[in-house]
Amino acid sequence: MGEMNFDGGVYETLPAKAYCDPTLFATEGAQIFRRSWQLIGHVTDLPNPGDYRVEDISGCSVIVMRGTDDVLRGFYNVCAHRGHELLLGQGCVKKLTCPYHAWTYDTLGQLRALPNEANFPGLDKSRHSLRSIRLEVFFGLILVNLNTDARPFAETAADAIPEISAYAPNLTAYHRAARTERLAAANWKVVAENFNECYHCAIVHKTLTSGVVDPDQYRTRGQEWGIHHTSPARPDARKSYSYAADPAAKTDKFLTWWFFPLVALQVYPGGIVNTYRWKPISVNQTKIEVDWWLPNPTPNAVEAEIIHQHRTTTFAEDGPIVDSVQRGLESGGYNTGPLVVDADCSSQSEHPILAFAALYQAALAR
Ligand code: FES
Ligand SMILES: [Fe+2]
Repeated sequence: MGEMNFDGGVYETLPAKAYCDPTLFATEGAQIFRRSWQLIGHVTDLPNPGDYRVEDISGCSVIVMRGTDDVLRGFYNVCAHRGHELLLGQGCVKKLTCPYHAWTYDTLGQLRALPNEANFPGLDKSRHSLRSIRLEVFFGLILVNLNTDARPFAETAADAIPEISAYAPNLTAYHRAARTERLAAANWKVVAENFNECYHCAIVHKTLTSGVVDPDQYRTRGQEWGIHHTSPARPDARKSYSYAADPAAKTDKFLTWWFFPLVALQVYPGGIVNTYRWKPISVNQTKIEVDWWLPNPTPNAVEAEIIHQHRTTTFAEDGPIVDSVQRGLESGGYNTGPLVVDADCSSQSEHPILAFAALYQAALAR
């Protein structure tokens, strides 16, 4: 597929039903969310043997754990005996003991002990390990996939790697420093489309467009892995926070790699990095989590400035927008509408919505 190109013209949105139908939402869970790479966190979240985090992927509970051999693994959070869940939340354990009948696993997922074991002479414990899931570490970010046949994330995202290496070179060693979150009352596709098109930026995001990015040079392109955004930072005289935009240090751009369907990595001018993770909760509820990854767990003055500015401007401004669109889509007074696409793929063009639709329809059909 490579880079997607669209001719200029008028295209149509997906029909309103696509954003409002609980049956379709269930299909998306099985066909898309459970078959794509999901962001769990960063290797520095789980520094010690036994550190774990439980996450929900479209109704399926999974454990990501660092073993006593220092290897990160992902497991279904399901006991091999009769299916009880093993862990909740996050923490650090020496072993995993099921709350139901106390079958006990080591941090590598192998069954080690069970009550009354002497009376099960035929039980081969090596055949009852926790069931593993795919896990990859990408620039320190931990990604998991419930699809055993999934193409490796690093292979899908291969053409993004040189630019991420250049603009977020130290991400592997960065730490979780701040989170901004919100429960949007909107379908995940409304949220994804809003995140990826910048036709609304000059109207809704005055701080972003006047003081962070240059709308005349902001470009978005559909890719095999998602949608790529890039813009030079504003010249010094106009910047909205006190970053140093140094081309030699590669801190002079705003960049986003949005990885279909629910993950993005962003670099703000000054080389300040965040990730987005979207969690579809129901057909019209989407949890949005933005984590800032910085050299130190406590933001410095400039980092604190953009974290606050993002939280109170760009992030906050999109909140009422997506909720309002969802109400409109559910109103019965709307089915489809036109998308304005220019051949230059300018920031005034809605071609990212076509790129989203192409990725979405391919994922639903696979
Ligand atoms: S279900 Fe886990 S020990 Fe029985
Ligand atoms: Fe926006």
